[in-house]
Amino acid sequence: MPGATVVRKIGKDAAGNPLNHVVWLGFCRPEQPEQLDESDGPGSLVVPNIDIIGYNSETGATCMLATDVGGIPKDTSEGTPWKAEGILPGSDDPRFDEMVELERTEECAECHQSNPFIHSPWIDGARMPDNPEEPVVPIVSGPNAPYWLLGTDHRRILTPHIENNGCVSCHRFPNRTEALFRENGWVASEHMPPHDPGSLSEDYQAMLSCLQAGPENTLRCDWISPPAGECEGEIAQ
Ligand code: HEC
Ligand code: HEC
Repeated sequence: MPGATVVRKIGKDAAGNPLNHVVWLGFCRPEQPEQLDESDGPGSLVVPNIDIIGYNSETGATCMLATDVGGIPKDTSEGTPWKAEGILPGSDDPRFDEMVELERTEECAECHQSNPFIHSPWIDGARMPDNPEEPVVPIVSGPNAPYWLLGTDHRRILTPHIENNGCVSCHRFPNRTEALFRENGWVASEHMPPHDPGSLSEDYQAMLSCLQAGPENTLRCDWISPPAGECEGEIAQ
């Protein structure tokens, strides 16, 4: 479905002062309501569906918000047909709670796994207007970046880890997302590491072998959870 939009905002505290270590990312995709049939054509209603991620890079606190199906209907007969855009009511507006779902947070982290943001060649096509070198979706740096989910009582977003393996030297290994991308023809070892693609294929194979046998059955391969607030990252027991 064409017309997706992605927007990055810097966080603010309650008094409106900028919080430069907090970033909000909004991802808006058009969905056509089921009740419409094709004869309605492009002048008909498109419902933008908005997913939002808020990330505090100091504590790792992450907020995952999804709008319920039925977001904000938009009449595409004017403006740019299909472009998913509109205004989400602020959190003080009662409609915000009606539109935004908070229950699916843990499901989000099944794919938003190594850190809050996922990079695909497609979404990285969106660049900051003032700097075409920089993707709109932030690149979270460091193999041990803090990450935990607000609204859940568990903070264990588990990923497989082999000490000194190159594939975990820049970011944690997003095993489910890696498999999802591979099934869709994007084999991570052919693109990673970004500056020298293909150079880590042995390390990549070691990660895949560990996953196949299970970290439980593989020497020096463990499930790890990220650092979160005051808590250090740890090996899952
Ligand atoms: C099945 C895997 C999967 C699940 C589950 C998932 N996402 Fe994503 N998400 C992706 C992928 C892949 C991208 C990158 C864009 C693309 O290529 O489609 C993405 C992109 C995003 C983006 C744009 C920023 C970024 O990280 O690239 C936001 C915001 C987002 N998702 C929010 C959510 C929320 C909120 C949930 C839970 C309600 C969720 N996602 C669940 C796979 C998933
Ligand atoms: C030198 C640092 C570096 C190394 C080493 C590295 N990556 Fe990455 N990886 C990145 C960066 C930066 C991104 C996000 C931006 C991009 O796609 O270029 C990324 C994105 C990914 C993604 C996309 C999904 C997501 O969650 O964003 C996968 C999958 C991935 N890497 C797997 C691997 C595998 C497998 C290896 C080992 C073969 C590896 N990476 C080694 C830096 C690295």
